[in-house]
Parts: sequence; C-alpha cells; structure tokens
Amino acid sequence: MPRSRVTALDRSPQLLRRLREAAERRGTADRLGTVETDLDAPWPDLGPSADLAWASASLHHLADPDGTLRRTFAALRPGGLLAVVEPDGLPRFLPADLGTGRPGLEDRCRALTAPRTAEAALHPAADWAPALERAGFTVEAEQRYAPRPPRPLPDSVGRYAHAVLTRLRAALDGRLDPEDTEVLDLLLDPSDPEGVLSRQDLDFRTERTLWVARRPPVSG
Ligand SMILES: C[S@@+](CC[C@H](N)C(=O)[O-])C[C@H]1O[C@@H](n2cnc3c(N)ncnc32)[C@H](O)[C@@H]1O
Repeated sequence: MPRSRVTALDRSPQLLRRLREAAERRGTADRLGTVETDLDAPWPDLGPSADLAWASASLHHLADPDGTLRRTFAALRPGGLLAVVEPDGLPRFLPADLGTGRPGLEDRCRALTAPRTAEAALHPAADWAPALERAGFTVEAEQRYAPRPPRPLPDSVGRYAHAVLTRLRAALDGRLDPEDTEVLDLLLDPSDPEGVLSRQDLDFRTERTLWVARRPPVSG
C-alpha cells in the first residue's frame, strides 16, 4: 500500500520550518511537502486530489473563510473528508490561588479583555457548520473536547503562558487594579521564581470543537 503524503499550507515560513523540523525528528520528512501561501488568496496547484484535509486553529484567522472552504472542497476527492478544529479562545494557565494577591487573577484579566478580544478576532468562537454546508460539505460529526497535555507539563507551557499573559497585559491597557497589576508583573518577570517561566503549578486548560465534514461522493 502506498504511504500517504501530507502537504501543509500556511503563510508563516516559521511555522512551516518548525513543521519540517518536527517531521525530520520523526523520520517522516520524505512524506511532507510545505507550501507558503495566503489561504485567503487563490491557491497554487497542489497536485492530485486529497483524501483528507485538516484545518487546525486557522479558520478564525481568515478574512474569507467561505472562499477557503470552497477551495478546500475543490482540493478534495469526492468522498474526501475535512476536519476543522477550533479553540474556544486562549488557554488558561494559572491556579485560582497563586499564593500571592487576591485569588482569581486570570478570571479578572479575562473578564476585562473579553469584549476587546471578541472585537479583534475575525470570527471568535464561531459555529463553522453553516459555513461548511455553504461550501458544499456534509457535516458528519461535531464534538467539543478538552485536550489534556502530558504530565509533567513540558517547559513550553511556561513560555506559552508568558506569551499569552504578555498579550493580556498589553490588552488590559491600565484597567487592572494596582494590586493585580503588581502580581501580573511578578508573573511576567523572567528572573522571579514565582514567575510563569519558573513556577511548577501551571495548568493548561482549553476547550476545542472538532467538525468532520465530507465532500459528497459523486452519485450515479
Ligand atoms: C493558531 S496558529 C495554528 C497553527 C497550526 N495550524 C496548529 O494547529 O498548531 C494559526 C495559523 O494560521 C496561519 N494563518 C493565519 N492566517 C492565514 C492566512 N491568511 N493564510 C495562511 N495561513 C494563515 C498562521 O500563520 C498560523 O500558523
């Protein structure tokens, strides 16, 4: 049986480079092609029709997701599948009680930034089923789930928490009270043992939805 090939499309050369590096580490680089392209624009020729397309945490970034879904439909063979995975929002990392300051800091930060985050995202927490159907797909399954990373958490979770909290800090724009701001700054201090880059009590909480959609097989 021929081994399957994967073609990854993204506009970010860094993401594609990291993907190639990961494939090399796993010994699967000979089965991976990467195409740097803007998914909102017409796609280059991708070769033979695909059996499976997978859109992970990308649709909500697109200016024209309807157009991208139509192009995905055209790139699949009749009967082929598209899996779309979208997160509910940014993950959460902090325990309710940090042992310093008032409990619930992350909830308070999120409550203050939620309206602006929703305005800034092109398609926040969208239901993608209607868009999939508009593009011609039949939606066969929809499932919400909470991915759990391996324990102990990898160091990359601390770096991810640092990046997300840095964005939150900027989005808060002086609206957080001084005590909370002080604790947030402590969490972001790379040299502080209580900072997210060092502390051992971080978590990774997020929810995602998976839609499985099929290009209908040719009838008759
Ligand atoms: C949250 S990341 C997800 C990355 C990866 N798919 C994953 O699941 O880990 C969103 C990705 O969408 C890509 N992206 C956003 N808008 C795009 C566009 N118009 N064309 C191509 N890629 C785009 C970004 O470069 C980024 O790699």
